[in-house]
Amino acid sequence: MINEIQHIPVLLEEVINGLSLTEDDIYVDATFGLGGYTKEILSKKNCKVVAIDRDPHTKVFAENLKKVFSDRLYFVNGKFSDLVYFLNKQKIQKVGGVVFDLGVSSPQLDIKNRGFSFKHDGPLDMRMSCDGPTAEEFLDEVEEDILANIIYELGDEVFSKRISNNIIQYRSTNKIKTTGQLAKIIRDAVPVKKSKIDPATKTFQAIRIYLNDEIKELENGLIAAERVLRPEGRLAVVSFHSIEDRIVKNFFLKCLQNIPYSRYLPELPKKKPSLEILTKRPILPSSKEVSFNKRSRSAKLRIAKRTNYPSTFGEIK
Ligand SMILES: C[S@@+](CC[C@H](N)C(=O)[O-])C[C@H]1O[C@@H](n2cnc3c(N)ncnc32)[C@H](O)[C@@H]1O
Repeated sequence: MINEIQHIPVLLEEVINGLSLTEDDIYVDATFGLGGYTKEILSKKNCKVVAIDRDPHTKVFAENLKKVFSDRLYFVNGKFSDLVYFLNKQKIQKVGGVVFDLGVSSPQLDIKNRGFSFKHDGPLDMRMSCDGPTAEEFLDEVEEDILANIIYELGDEVFSKRISNNIIQYRSTNKIKTTGQLAKIIRDAVPVKKSKIDPATKTFQAIRIYLNDEIKELENGLIAAERVLRPEGRLAVVSFHSIEDRIVKNFFLKCLQNIPYSRYLPELPKKKPSLEILTKRPILPSSKEVSFNKRSRSAKLRIAKRTNYPSTFGEIK
């Protein structure tokens, strides 16, 4: 059944152009998913791809692609924050490009047992790697003000306190076991307004980001990517909400190293930039893409190029 599920790769042409592929090079697809980007990269050039995904359910898609591309594809089931370690194990030092397509894939959202979606009623799971505490276990023990803070910070939800309070009230008499139950608790907590967006959207996003430690993963994944890029190598990142996009934008700026860290600290000697930013503004999907792939509507693509100067975070020995 998992084999029948589709995921339309977002901003595919723009990502591939941004990677500026060359023959015989090595590329990293840090968020393999169903392999949409990997397949395109391997079809365009006679190169290799190291593909990473933390979700064990993606292995089957990698196995299918390996039938076509054999040892030009190397798949790892793990987290992209461990990128340097995975490349080390393959005796690879530098690569020509790294791409991240953040967030969840269509199967993760559409298979109700994964527990990511408020549109389907399933067990409250939300774990990308299928290990660690589930969303049900987390909601069973979290304190009210901590939960409110998570919903506010990671969901940008102004009704975070009300939602958190409703969850805690409900929890005192019932177990919250399904996505349908949680969605109803959230919808009941927020004032009715005429919006196209479901009131559960932001809270589900916040819990998912928290449970999967997505902010730390992104920060460490970007650092690893910068360290493994060869000069002229490209870094392409597709993000889906403002928190992710801000992290990517600030990371690029940090690698430019021409902004002081703080105006209260003594000025540090200026270092040379390790990245050149190729997208002054993020690339957005065309209206045509949004019309055939609704999921692309909030996507933003930022691209940077590695310079010849030393890595901002330390050269790999
Ligand atoms: C939007 S999907 C990628 C879709 C893919 N570009 C395609 O065309 O099929 C995001 C994928 O990234 C994976 N992922 C998210 N965070 C990750 C992390 N920290 N390390 C590795 N994989 C991660 C998810 O499990 C999911 O499969």
